[in-house]
Amino acid sequence: MKILAFESTCDETAVAVVEDGRKILTDQILSQASLHAVYGGVVPEIASRCHVEAISILAERAVEAAGIQKKDIDAVAVSYAPGLIGAVLVGVNFAKACASALHVPLIPVHHIRGHIAANYLAYPELEPPFLCLAISGGNSLLVDVRDYTDMKIIGCTRDDAAGECFDKTARVLGLPYPGGRPIEELSRGGDDTKYVFPTAHVDGSPYDMSFSGLKTAVINLVHNAEQKGEELDRASLAASFTKAVSDSLVPRTMQAARELGYDKIVVAGGVAANARIRADFAREASIAGCRLYIPPLRLCGDNGAMVGAQGYYEYLAGVRAGSDLNAYATMEI
Ligand code: KG4
Repeated sequence: MKILAFESTCDETAVAVVEDGRKILTDQILSQASLHAVYGGVVPEIASRCHVEAISILAERAVEAAGIQKKDIDAVAVSYAPGLIGAVLVGVNFAKACASALHVPLIPVHHIRGHIAANYLAYPELEPPFLCLAISGGNSLLVDVRDYTDMKIIGCTRDDAAGECFDKTARVLGLPYPGGRPIEELSRGGDDTKYVFPTAHVDGSPYDMSFSGLKTAVINLVHNAEQKGEELDRASLAASFTKAVSDSLVPRTMQAARELGYDKIVVAGGVAANARIRADFAREASIAGCRLYIPPLRLCGDNGAMVGAQGYYEYLAGVRAGSDLNAYATMEI
């Protein structure tokens, strides 16, 4: 079954063709990040306009690159929530038009479910149930994935998402948006013990996370140093910051896996690209005797293939949308 899949929830316009939920025939991604970089973050209006300009060209390109004809498409899938509402609407409306014109079913896909499904593309043997940590620019969630379409959030951030914390920290350090990769590059060779940053615990909610205290600690450190005219060791600051993020994510996930009885751990989302976080997870999973699944870097960030992968399992579960499908800025998984 071939699914034409659309992703436009933030600043990537992406169109993919995925076969049977597991095989990428093509994955076309146009990132707008360089356009938003000058503003230090995504400007929703610019994002929506760029999606409008790109989406039909990318769709044509995807069909051609997949080596198929439009009549070979069996269904259309689209990320319909959560995200920047104007941006999501572009993908939703274009997908609706495609499904209608091609006379095929329309499948709504939750964006975070898509991130989780990126792992199905990378690991043919991976099947639920498993525990997943989904860490992206807008979300940080611990998800009990009981089946392909049966999931329960067991922990989430109480304030900023992990990726947002990277982006805001990068901004105060004068690094470009999105800040995750620049911080990773800066941190190389840094001493991760030089600066001690807080890792928050939420009383009574052991699986919940909080990153705003960490963000504020970095901002205060940088501003105090500026006022006193002191030079900061930027590489060590970036390394210490990344250690604090990882220390907020990895032990919590391992604890949840232990307590829920999971020996399969999946990590998903843009922040899963971080080398330090990947290494910490690999070490701890090996100590605990757990199997660890993290997508290759190209499938960590937003892409259309992950929507096609999850769309396939939603389709099998009977999920369909009509021409009244709406876009949503927020939505439970
Ligand atoms: O999943 P994604 O592409 O978009 C959302 O669905 O939000 O995630 C984007 C986030 C950004 O905050 C970006 O800074 C972060 O992922 N990111 C990273 C790295 N690469 C991207 N964070 C830490 N280390 C990285 N190497």
